[in-house]
Amino acid sequence: MGRYIKIFDTTLRDGEQSPGASMTLDQKVEMAEALESLGVDVIEAGFPVSSKVQFEAVRRVAGTLKTAAVVGLSRCVKKDIDITYEAVKDAVHPMLHLFIATSPLHREFKLKKDRSQVLESIATHLDYARQYFKRIEFSPEDASRTETDFLLEVIKTAIAHGATTINIPDTVGFSMPDEFGELIEKLVSEIPEFQSGAVDLSVHCHNDLGLAAANSLAAVKAGASQVEVTLNGIGERAGNCALEELVMGLEVRRDLYNVDTRIQKEYLYPTGKLLQNLTGLLFQRNKPIFGDNVFTHESGIHQHGVLAHRETYEIMNPNTIGRHSESLVMGRHSGKHALQEKLRQYNIRLSEEQFQKVFERFAEIADKKKEVYDEDLFSIVSNVLGGTIDGYRMPYFHVYTGNTLIPSATIKLIEKDEEYIASATGDGPVDAVFNAIDKCCHITTRLEEYIIQAVGSGKDAQGQVKLMLEIEQELFAGKASSTDIVEASALAYLNAVNRYVLKRLSNGHSEADEQESQMAEATGKSRTK
Ligand code: KIV
Ligand code: ZN
Repeated sequence: MGRYIKIFDTTLRDGEQSPGASMTLDQKVEMAEALESLGVDVIEAGFPVSSKVQFEAVRRVAGTLKTAAVVGLSRCVKKDIDITYEAVKDAVHPMLHLFIATSPLHREFKLKKDRSQVLESIATHLDYARQYFKRIEFSPEDASRTETDFLLEVIKTAIAHGATTINIPDTVGFSMPDEFGELIEKLVSEIPEFQSGAVDLSVHCHNDLGLAAANSLAAVKAGASQVEVTLNGIGERAGNCALEELVMGLEVRRDLYNVDTRIQKEYLYPTGKLLQNLTGLLFQRNKPIFGDNVFTHESGIHQHGVLAHRETYEIMNPNTIGRHSESLVMGRHSGKHALQEKLRQYNIRLSEEQFQKVFERFAEIADKKKEVYDEDLFSIVSNVLGGTIDGYRMPYFHVYTGNTLIPSATIKLIEKDEEYIASATGDGPVDAVFNAIDKCCHITTRLEEYIIQAVGSGKDAQGQVKLMLEIEQELFAGKASSTDIVEASALAYLNAVNRYVLKRLSNGHSEADEQESQMAEATGKSRTK
């Protein structure tokens, strides 16, 4: 047994802040449960003061999880702390994550506070938070660009006022691994509470230079006892340290690190896939650990080597992370029991109602196709979960197309009790359907990305469409599949439009925005990273 490293997952907070990654309440709860089964110690479920939907998501996750601590993010503002407490108080292990920026740049241009004012704010808000919380993590935002002497003062103040974890964010992904490791080593050597384990020393690295995992690993080597990660590395800008990269780095190079986590590695890939399906954010093919190419060998020399001895070109076994080369094929004779077993293997947990819908859709597809592959199942599950996004539904569509006429489409959409019908022409049937949807929804969009591929194999494979829509200067991902590719395209488009509707409804004018603009007047602008 090695030293124990806690995994703090912020997929639902920092991860969800990345464009196109927003999830519905049900999807967040589903993801939180999957992360808990995966074995993470702490789940940051959101930023409760930022909107009613964020508050509700954190509250629901807090009420659901059994073993993981549930954290809400909060600025050094009393109202944030009150609201975060209300959101997490029903958790088995409630926790607060309090932050304020400490670097000279942020102090001068964002906060307009000097060093002593920052220290005062930390002391005041930790004292205030202690009435509610036993476990409090404190983060000096932009720590890696903060003067080391001041950073030490900040940490000592936070510990003296009750912080039980100190998190060191490399907020803008600026650090280099050697440098970051040295910083962590210095903090451990100067702070007795880190040496004794009375206070956890955590790190939170962003990936702007592609070094988030390298910096986090350097920090573990230097003595950090917790690492903050997101699944699939989603997060602000270039994202955060990817959970799977950290965990597999520690595993594959156990000889260097000799540390343990509670992560159930065989759930890594299925959980990453679940997140991919819920958000529609694709893995690039060469993405470490999860990409399609990672266990594929193209060159003859490599193929020969792998056949002779797998380790010649593979440093990990795909089975370790739950990637199975030969999928258990499901078909029209597979019953509910087999489907349940399959979903269980992939750690997909559904409510009875969701399971029933998945089963019905599975049975329909199994009738049309000889074999239903795991990829088909993933897309059925994500359609069913995606279908829980409130918004437009499409009871019917028609297209006329051919090489001698102008393609046209007519669609009917329903939102709540309203019906909308529109027709439009286009360059092709897909374009015509998209134009008809725009007319029904009175929106202007720009199609930033459109990918169609077959899932499963054979002529009867389902068409899976993944796309990215820009609406009002924001990006929204959409994903759907069907044996009819025009239908798959229309559903993926609607999926993205519904994410926009959801975001508009929930985040329109959040309390935090109001509060931030008030604060901005007094202190300059502030945004979380
Ligand atoms: O990147 C960052 O600094 C953050 C803090 C809120 C911890 O996300
Ligand atoms: Zn961050």
